[in-house]
Amino acid sequence: MVNIGTRISELKLRNPTILASGILGETSGSMKRVASCGAGAIVTKSIGMKPREGYPNPTAVEIECGILNSMGLPNPGIEEFKKEIDEIDEIDIPVIGSIFGKDEKEFAFLAKKMEEYGLDAIELNLSCPHARGYGLEIGSSPDIVREVVREVKKKVSIPVFPKLSANAGDIVDIGKAAEEGGADGVVAINSLRAMKIDIHLKKPILYNRVGGYSGKGIKPVAVRCVYELSRELDIPVIGVGGVETWEDAVEYILAGACAVQIGAAVYYRGLSVFAEICEGMKRWMEENGFESIEDFRGVALK
Ligand SMILES: Cc1cc2nc3c(=O)[nH]c(=O)nc-3n(C[C@H](O)[C@H](O)[C@H](O)COP(=O)(O)O)c2cc1C
Repeated sequence: MVNIGTRISELKLRNPTILASGILGETSGSMKRVASCGAGAIVTKSIGMKPREGYPNPTAVEIECGILNSMGLPNPGIEEFKKEIDEIDEIDIPVIGSIFGKDEKEFAFLAKKMEEYGLDAIELNLSCPHARGYGLEIGSSPDIVREVVREVKKKVSIPVFPKLSANAGDIVDIGKAAEEGGADGVVAINSLRAMKIDIHLKKPILYNRVGGYSGKGIKPVAVRCVYELSRELDIPVIGVGGVETWEDAVEYILAGACAVQIGAAVYYRGLSVFAEICEGMKRWMEENGFESIEDFRGVALK
């Protein structure tokens, strides 16, 4: 009998598909819908200290092999977000609170709030490619990453997963700093810094000019990051970037991931994407004689 349950630190997931941050994770209603469609866990939209409107439109555009977005981290702020969390009691899968801040104090404060609200783990967004002061300025420095993780770990007892960028120097150096700070796992990767120019208007399409590239086009970069991190770190790695099919998910697990997050594919394939990936993965495991995710996790590293 094939079992696709997986473990990330102390979090137990009934399957390895997780809703990525920023995709339907802002309201209780959308999180309940995702849970009912078979996801193994949910990551909330990244939440900061205060409400933020984000950038003016255009904030997103479909491009070759994916989506380019520069939302600018719009969110209701941590106090207001409690109302949404208070309404997700019936969700019976882990909900991971994503947070962003400008320094270790803000991250620690936000993490504590998320723990008090009853969430199961924290994802630290250290890698937003387009929000000045909140993203790569923090996630590019091993020293700052180590410090942020350390401060957060002092404040909470639930697992903490920093989300890393492939735009921040050597991702393994950053991953090691996160591990030294006490991270319970790392998430790789956030969307990649990119640009689309309208050749008729002769200027960048997005209001913010630069955005984050998500979807199929970034998958080879993300798989490489997961592979390198899995080889060098002792903590679990969660893969994200371009997962659309069960084949994509299997590839990430072979590269060492214990679970995958799904973002842009929710727009392309709808909410059935979680169940479809699980079904395909089960069939593939049966055909290959694997009984659990651990039986083939990281096989490509050998
Ligand atoms: C519209 C949009 C909004 C996003 N917002 C966030 C966010 O708030 N926090 C975060 O950590 N990542 C955010 N991301 C990045 C995704 O979580 C994910 O890392 C990235 O899109 C790559 O995965 P994918 O190719 O499956 O979409 C966002 C992505 C998109 C497309």
